[in-house]
Amino acid sequence: MTAITFSPDVSGTITDGVLVVTLDNPPVNAASQTVRAGIMAALAHLNGNSTLKAMVMTGAGKSFVGGADIREFGKPPVDPILPDVVSAIEASAKPVVAALNGVALGGGLEIALACHQRIAAASAKLGLPEVKLGLVPGAGGTQRLPRLTGVAPAIEMIGSGRAVSAKEALTLGILDRVATGDLLAEAIDMSHAAGKSMRRTGMLSVPPSSDADIEAAAKKVLGKARGQTAPGQAIRLVKLAGEATLDTGLAEERRTFLELKDSEQARALRHVFFAERASAKVDGLDGVQPRKLETIGIVGMGLMGSGIAVSALDAGFRVIAVEQSAEAAEKGRTRIEDMLRKNLASGRIDQAGFDARVSRLKTAGDKTALQPADLVIEAVFDDYDVKATLFGALDGIVRDDAILATNTSYLDPDRLAAETKNPARVVGLHFFSPANIMRLMEVVKGAKTAPDVLATGLQLAKRLGKLPIVCGVTEGFIGNRIFSAYRKEAEFLLEDGASPAEIDSAMEKFGMAMGPFAVFDLAGLEIAWARRKRQAATRDPAERYSVIADRLCEAGRFGQKAGRGWYAYVDGKRQEDPAVTDMIAAARREKGIVPKDFTSGEITRRLVSAMADEGRKLLAEGIAARASDIDLVLINGYGFPAHRGGPMFMAGIE
Ligand code: 3HC
Repeated sequence: MTAITFSPDVSGTITDGVLVVTLDNPPVNAASQTVRAGIMAALAHLNGNSTLKAMVMTGAGKSFVGGADIREFGKPPVDPILPDVVSAIEASAKPVVAALNGVALGGGLEIALACHQRIAAASAKLGLPEVKLGLVPGAGGTQRLPRLTGVAPAIEMIGSGRAVSAKEALTLGILDRVATGDLLAEAIDMSHAAGKSMRRTGMLSVPPSSDADIEAAAKKVLGKARGQTAPGQAIRLVKLAGEATLDTGLAEERRTFLELKDSEQARALRHVFFAERASAKVDGLDGVQPRKLETIGIVGMGLMGSGIAVSALDAGFRVIAVEQSAEAAEKGRTRIEDMLRKNLASGRIDQAGFDARVSRLKTAGDKTALQPADLVIEAVFDDYDVKATLFGALDGIVRDDAILATNTSYLDPDRLAAETKNPARVVGLHFFSPANIMRLMEVVKGAKTAPDVLATGLQLAKRLGKLPIVCGVTEGFIGNRIFSAYRKEAEFLLEDGASPAEIDSAMEKFGMAMGPFAVFDLAGLEIAWARRKRQAATRDPAERYSVIADRLCEAGRFGQKAGRGWYAYVDGKRQEDPAVTDMIAAARREKGIVPKDFTSGEITRRLVSAMADEGRKLLAEGIAARASDIDLVLINGYGFPAHRGGPMFMAGIE
């Protein structure tokens, strides 16, 4: 069979009078200019050739089409633009069937929506993730998807950017079929029949959704938007699909897309997208093979250890979790099983999944049970002596090629490694709590960590579905060092005249999940207090220091758990507390500070600059490999709004 070339990455073959077109633009078949031009040429060939009856379009490799080419976004559009390609597909006189072999995202799904029928491999994923890039779909997605699903489901999908499985897409009406055997053969079969009842998505009327469903979907999306523009615009456009003609809807969608494409939020989210891909490229690991990982050992089954266990069980690992006694181990098992049961109740896992996880979990009250583990993570109390003794003991229990990982937040992994015979097998894996939910993992490269040990840490993180960021050894690593700088600056702002509530409200308006003082209260004030006491002897007396947090701790105001901290808590709700206002006023008086008024903008600028300044130091010290890694740590571990791009991006530091 000779292939017809339509463009450098689009080619076709003919089977049984059907033109089978393959898009082949590695790595993800993004709809770049040559792909778009190729599809146009294929359509012209189809409709200009009387021997051809229909066309099937599919992708080479793992993806159908991973979306518009994000790399083209900073540049002026080049013809043929995607909306024109999509309209040409829909207008084709002969049927076009989309055979979705893998992901169909963004512009990829929009291409499929314009086809006259859609079939997908069971493993395919379909979604319009444009809001995650600060955009709305720009090639008809907001108008064609609701014509298949109804307005409410389309608001949920487009507003959240969530991708759905082939099975769910079938239920939602997006797909006509899920392939049971050979995808292409089934697509060709479908294309023979498709001509008889050509269905153009754009011509369909929108299936009804109740007002209550529409408003509930919109509320859910807006509840998570935290200041992002795109989700609200997506809702508006999807609603328009239910009210206006296709042409009106498409024109409004295009106008909105182009406006958003050049927005600061879209620039920031593109930065985050490429930052995530860049973070996976770690110097010195080219060609390094990670070690085999099947069994994960965990020491300590507190909240952190249990969360790590659930995460590892979710990823299919066998887990051996140990505690200091059989009784403590039993308590730990109950905690882990309770967490799994919660996921069963919420539908995140089914009964078979629950049973499989429990069968892969072994718990013991004795460290020697860890002998078969390929990697052991310690998640015990963050105290040097406790961890040092443990590392010394583990060294004699696990196999020589097993990896020892510490989940310490503040201690020096190099010192812990020195407690073992082979420091090359020690790495820091700093999880964030709750460990089965939080996406960030700082992977700490010690002075002696072997490259394949580091590579294994990264691989583990990816298998757990986490975003690993490699960092060097420093107190607090990337995240907590920046967080300490943020904490200090927030306290200086207090001294200078702002109140905790003003600062929190400014940062929450900015898009932080929670303001700093609310976070301090939630986390508890004792650990930072203990650290400040440890550091007191070595602190430079000339350095600015705020005593307010110490005074709070001295007064037993340890945060939310104590019922009072920076705020008073009444029925779990935070309230300004005059006692704290007095403590702040006293501290100002002692330093002779005359309090000033601050605008929200001034507050956020000072706090974000403090983070960026600390980030600059981390780069200069070689702790972080690139500025964008620091942004990812803040976004994924500390609630920094992704649509602001991170403190380094905001400060213009590359
Ligand atoms: N455009 C350009 N490059 C892309 C891309 C895209 N849409 N999607 C992925 N890439 C690149 C990545 O940058 C990476 O490049 P690198 O190797 O040089 O770092 C490479 O492809 C592989 O990407 P991943 O590491 O993410 O590969 P995975 O296999 O893990 O995931 C994927 C594949 C699920 C397709 C994932 O890449 C993804 O989610 N991509 C983005 C999808 C998206 O947001 N599409 C919407 C674009 S906006 C749009 O379509 C507008 C339209 O409405 C007009």
